[in-house]
Amino acid sequence: MSVFREDVLEGKVAFVTGGGSGICKGITKALMAHGAKAVITSRKQERLDAAAKELAEATESECLGVACDVRQPETVEAALDRALERFGGVDVVVNGAAGNFLAPAAQLSYNAFRTVLEIDSIGTYTVCRAAFDKHLKANGGTILNISATLHYGATPLQTHAAAAKAAVDAVTRSLAVEWGRLGIRVNGIAPGPIDGTEGISRLAPGKARDAMIAAIPIGRMGEIEEIANVALFLCTDAASLIHGETIVADGGHWLGGPAMQLLGG
Ligand code: NAP
Ligand code: COA
Repeated sequence: MSVFREDVLEGKVAFVTGGGSGICKGITKALMAHGAKAVITSRKQERLDAAAKELAEATESECLGVACDVRQPETVEAALDRALERFGGVDVVVNGAAGNFLAPAAQLSYNAFRTVLEIDSIGTYTVCRAAFDKHLKANGGTILNISATLHYGATPLQTHAAAAKAAVDAVTRSLAVEWGRLGIRVNGIAPGPIDGTEGISRLAPGKARDAMIAAIPIGRMGEIEEIANVALFLCTDAASLIHGETIVADGGHWLGGPAMQLLGG
């Protein structure tokens, strides 16, 4: 049972990039289960159609899957137009579309580094900007940018993603300052390792999984539902004073890493 009132997002519409899979599908499910309607986007229409059906059945709310590529602004604008046509507004924008893989910096091609920044950082800005122009500027709303903790310390083999998420956090803070007076609340979430996701299967394959768990103070990875709860909180009036902040939800992982070794972790 949810700790949130089940109609806390009644009448709201969410636009979620990366909403057809993993963490952002879980966020969409939580928003819908609490009254919101949703538009989920990513590059693959087939995956979106299956996810939209599953989410609608699970929550008894409405969900539309619209393919777009956050690297192509015109497709983002068209997806927002579809959302506005179908539901009449976009109150919550979640930027979850991302790309990542393990690769030493010395082996990354120029294009590989650029690709990850284009999806995560420029993609986040593009969606924020298009949603601002088309609806948020006149109506207010909430933006949630999905980040990570990779750039708090240093993360070898993920130079590209660490740089990309650092830029995402910078966008979150700057937009919060520029758009706050318009009733647009801009925040982020920095998940730690989340079990059962594409991210973890790529970044902690095989035995690396055990080493990762050993470095997490709470002794386990997070669950998708736990990130979804943070997103839900940030979308409600309970978070009305939280603005320009990226909330870490990682069971203490980024603080704990090296220190956990001293504890024999
Ligand atoms: P995921 O399921 O692979 O989510 C990434 C999504 O982005 C996919 O739905 C993908 O769908 C979409 N996408 C990729 N490129 C795109 C593009 N150019 N345009 C539009 N959509 C695009 O991975 P996840 O592990 O759940 O990660 C979700 C978010 O959480 C990401 O922002 C990730 O950085 C962050 N995060 C995850 C973890 C973790 O432990 N998993 C930890 C920290 C942060 P298509 O392939 O259909 O386009
Ligand atoms: N190691 C090193 N380089 C890699 C790589 C890897 N594992 N995977 C891809 N690249 C390089 C490619 O070689 C290419 O560079 P090149 O043109 O110099 O050869 C560049 O990255 C772009 O790859 P491409 O496959 O053309 O891009 P894409 O736009 O089709 O896919 C990715 C983007 C690479 C990020 C892909 O992994 C993806 O779609 N990811 C989405 C899901 C995801 O990453 N989820 C986890 C989120 S935490």
